[in-house]
Amino acid sequence: MGRMTDKVALVTGGAEGIGATVGRMIVAEGGEALLCDVQIDKARALADELGENAAAFELDVRDLDQWYAAVKAAQERFGKLNVLCNVAGISEPGIVTDVDLDSWNRTIDINLNGPFYGCRAAIPAMEAAGEPGAIVNIGSMIAMRAAAFVAAYSASKAGLLGLTRSVALDLAERGLPIRANMVHPGAIRTPMYDRYKYSGVDTPENIETNFAATHPMNRIGEPEEVAKAVVFLASDEASFTTGCDFTVDGGGSIRS
Ligand SMILES: NC(=O)c1ccc[n+]([C@@H]2O[C@H](COP(=O)([O-])OP(=O)(O)OC[C@H]3O[C@@H](n4cnc5c(N)ncnc54)[C@H](O)[C@@H]3O)[C@@H](O)[C@H]2O)c1
Repeated sequence: MGRMTDKVALVTGGAEGIGATVGRMIVAEGGEALLCDVQIDKARALADELGENAAAFELDVRDLDQWYAAVKAAQERFGKLNVLCNVAGISEPGIVTDVDLDSWNRTIDINLNGPFYGCRAAIPAMEAAGEPGAIVNIGSMIAMRAAAFVAAYSASKAGLLGLTRSVALDLAERGLPIRANMVHPGAIRTPMYDRYKYSGVDTPENIETNFAATHPMNRIGEPEEVAKAVVFLASDEASFTTGCDFTVDGGGSIRS
């Protein structure tokens, strides 16, 4: 028996990076996963590779109606919904005095409104399942240790931290067996990281060295290291854990 046996999970950002790795691990641990993403071809290819316990669904997390359709698709395909993993996110540079307004709004829309819509659409379905459930939101080391060059990202992830705690309290106070937690990655080797590494702002070698140095463990993390934390919090092994900030950042958030 795997840690996700009998669990049906909806994973956003499931086409690549951390979300794809979470989807893979949920299925490897005996669960079923609906991989939701705007990159539907990549999500479908991964679902095909994972077999009958995975499926793909086209979802832009900025659209509440699409969220209701995604939750319905999980229920129709797998019979219920137990777990929501809000992984989809974007990171765009910009300090507060010159960040492009479209970039600010896009970042808040995807990184904060998206998980809010997800909780709104998924919680009734998780309640209807009548089983222990879990929400896992992906934050960032930056949620706890803001960075000047990503003003919108810092605000969106700190906002998501407040939302996660509010949801955790609401679920617990209503006596529901559904928990809400957050995983805060440091720099992780994914397409998002590679886009910055090869952006041309510096040599890829310097970017790697400088990013690694912001983590006391002095390296970049791997998506599997984040997915292991997500699966732990999504599983019944974390049955008395709600509202927590689980860092996977090589100590980055605690450095002075
Ligand atoms: N990689 C890192 O260094 C790092 C560090 C800290 C936090 N994070 C967070 O981890 C999460 C995943 O990051 P990643 O590195 O895997 O990113 P990634 O860019 O490699 O993958 C993100 C996925 O989200 C999808 N996505 C983007 N916008 C979407 C939308 N509107 N609707 C649905 N799907 C959408 C993309 O298509 C992509 O498949 C994000 O929330 C990110 O902020 C990443």
